[in-house]
Amino acid sequence: MNIIDIINKTKRSEALSDEEIKWLVAGFTDGNIPDHQMSAWLMAVCFNGLTERETFSLTMAMRDSGDVLDLSGFGKITVDKHSTGGVGDKTSLIIGPAAAACGVAVPKMSGRGLGHTGGTIDKLESIPGYRTDLSFDEFSDIVRKTGFSIISQTGKICPADKKIYSLRNVTGTVDSIPLICASIMSKKLAMNADCILLDVKYGSGAFMKTKEEAQVLASLMEKIGRYAGKKCRAMITDMNDPLGSNIGNALEVAEAVEILQGRKKGVLYELCMDITANMLELAGKGSLSECRTMAEEAVSSGKALDILRRTIELQGGDGRICDDISLLPKARFSHEIRASHDIKILSVNSSEIGMASLILGAGRLSAGDSVDMSAGIVMNCHAGDMVSEGDVLMTLYSSVCSDFSEAAVRAYRAVSFCSI
Ligand code: URA
Repeated sequence: MNIIDIINKTKRSEALSDEEIKWLVAGFTDGNIPDHQMSAWLMAVCFNGLTERETFSLTMAMRDSGDVLDLSGFGKITVDKHSTGGVGDKTSLIIGPAAAACGVAVPKMSGRGLGHTGGTIDKLESIPGYRTDLSFDEFSDIVRKTGFSIISQTGKICPADKKIYSLRNVTGTVDSIPLICASIMSKKLAMNADCILLDVKYGSGAFMKTKEEAQVLASLMEKIGRYAGKKCRAMITDMNDPLGSNIGNALEVAEAVEILQGRKKGVLYELCMDITANMLELAGKGSLSECRTMAEEAVSSGKALDILRRTIELQGGDGRICDDISLLPKARFSHEIRASHDIKILSVNSSEIGMASLILGAGRLSAGDSVDMSAGIVMNCHAGDMVSEGDVLMTLYSSVCSDFSEAAVRAYRAVSFCSI
């Protein structure tokens, strides 16, 4: 086989065989195919796409570049969930304990964030003492005890994706639906849970800007999951407004705890209950409406919060944050943005709010950057709200940045409103 023939075939929209795709992925992962040739192939995919069969072969070749986990020892159906990411998305911290409280196992591996705000692992590391670098045996032991654990993804899962994704990031080849699908699904299939629930987001703060694009990605990911023998379902959800009120690592953990304490309802709570219900239905726990009731009871009874507390403690963290969120890191500086007159909020641009959080220190621009766990934004306003002159629209927090001018301008511009 020859890399130039492979690049030319994709350039001419001729389908590659399974063997050619396996050879390409293995060759790039072990260093025999250099970055410039892989970049040329990735760009050809961006222009011409891949067939479903090619996307499936690419996903499986990437999955098989590393370990495929054995989750059969939990004695329960295992359910994984993946969200394509957005601003203020702390759903994993809520749906994991809620689904576990209803009798399924939720073993999850997540990543650190690049851009806007931290990833799920950054959020969890804002809990004092919480360890995310557990061995597979430690991880399994916690899932056996509580039904739920989240650790950081080891280098042994999909090394091909790690290498390809780094190259896509610097070659303008991230926004290709088959490449996104293969990247996400190879990691989900390597985790190897029985059921996979995908939350595909669209809107200003998401990879997919329109609902139509999200539908194409969702349907492709569902098919690839099912071809691989999994129960797989994709939900399509709106990521135009930030999800919930809090954006930033410790602030998002605090909001997740408030939801599990039953003290906060609204869009985030509703989405988490819908996701949990879909996970439970996929796992055969009942009809969708029965599963929704089970999910709500898991929260109202306090069982989901107990699971989060026990999991945090077993991972070395301070479980008392589940009763007292003031034990989470607190910012040294804060800044309020108030309404200058009476207004109606028309929309809040998540992407801009994410960028303001990044300026405050809540996210990272390059992989090695450190993150300010206390930084972020608490939104007091959402699309449709009427706000009176002088009311606080949002509060900005940071421990590393005491000059709020740049972040405040960006955050204020994110809110579009009309006078009333
Ligand atoms: N998330 C991933 O893991 N991969 C992509 O390509 C895009 C989002």
